[in-house]
Amino acid sequence: MKWQAQAPANIALIKYMGKTEYATNQPANASFSYTLNHLTTRVELELGETSDRWEPLTPKTRLSPAQQARFLNHLNRIKTHFGFNGHFIVRSANNFPAGCGLASSASSFAALTKASVIALAALTQQSIDFAILTTLSRQGSGSSCRSLLDGWVLWDNNGIQPVDLPYPHLSHCVLIVDRKEKSISSSHAHEAVLSSLLFDGRPKRAALRLDQLITALKTSDWRLAYETTWHEFWDMHSLFETASPTFSYLTPQSLTLLRHIQDFWTREGDGPLVTMDAGPNIHLLFRPDQIQLRHQLLGGLPGTIDVFSSGSQ
Ligand code: PMV
Repeated sequence: MKWQAQAPANIALIKYMGKTEYATNQPANASFSYTLNHLTTRVELELGETSDRWEPLTPKTRLSPAQQARFLNHLNRIKTHFGFNGHFIVRSANNFPAGCGLASSASSFAALTKASVIALAALTQQSIDFAILTTLSRQGSGSSCRSLLDGWVLWDNNGIQPVDLPYPHLSHCVLIVDRKEKSISSSHAHEAVLSSLLFDGRPKRAALRLDQLITALKTSDWRLAYETTWHEFWDMHSLFETASPTFSYLTPQSLTLLRHIQDFWTREGDGPLVTMDAGPNIHLLFRPDQIQLRHQLLGGLPGTIDVFSSGSQ
């Protein structure tokens, strides 16, 4: 008997950074994301014998021992929720190449939560509602709860909810500056930012930008949306740069590319939304009518740069 589920990644435009409660990943501020349906993780569960174990679902899939342990730990959490004592073989794979610098924890933990809940609901004859599903997913990786909904998603004190806004179909790509697994995990970043003197006003700034971004999208003010998301990722990276001890994800190449995109916006009066997660890679979101402009921007990037987009595989 096998149970399967799949879930997409998401990119936050208002960032979840800093927690008020660690065990349940209670965020210090509301966050807001766009679901990336072209980047997915697939998880399959099969009943096993003596202990839980992870296996690759496709030959190219790799997970480090630490990542496997984190995955199985989350499975265990869900088994405990259902009061289940049996064991599983967990198989997973992403539809995007491993080690291309794309954060996959949101899609992985959302897919694992969905597959586990499907399996355990069937095996224990229990059902859970959507709110519990999101709470469970969030305990594996906070940002994974936003991957349980499509389109624009808000995660605040009331849980997650879809937000009906213009631009439901954006095209996404990532400028890959570094393919390596990041040396400072987002879990570490969530704790470390609290040591920055700038963290004091952070929840307020994030809330103001959330309002501003939703207003910008509602009124189709793309430039204001760009400016808001630009300020927002710099705010998060400023927390990293001013933490004690300080840490950084930005590389000289990230900075060159950011400057290039900023100059492009100044020259053309238009461009993509730009954001960065806890890593050196740069995420771009284009409106459907920006195909030509996207071509122009990506064709003129300085140096040799890998671009991963929906059409890359
Ligand atoms: O879900 P986590 O614990 O990996 O945290 C994700 C944090 C960021 O990606 C930097 C921001 C976000 O909101 O996704």
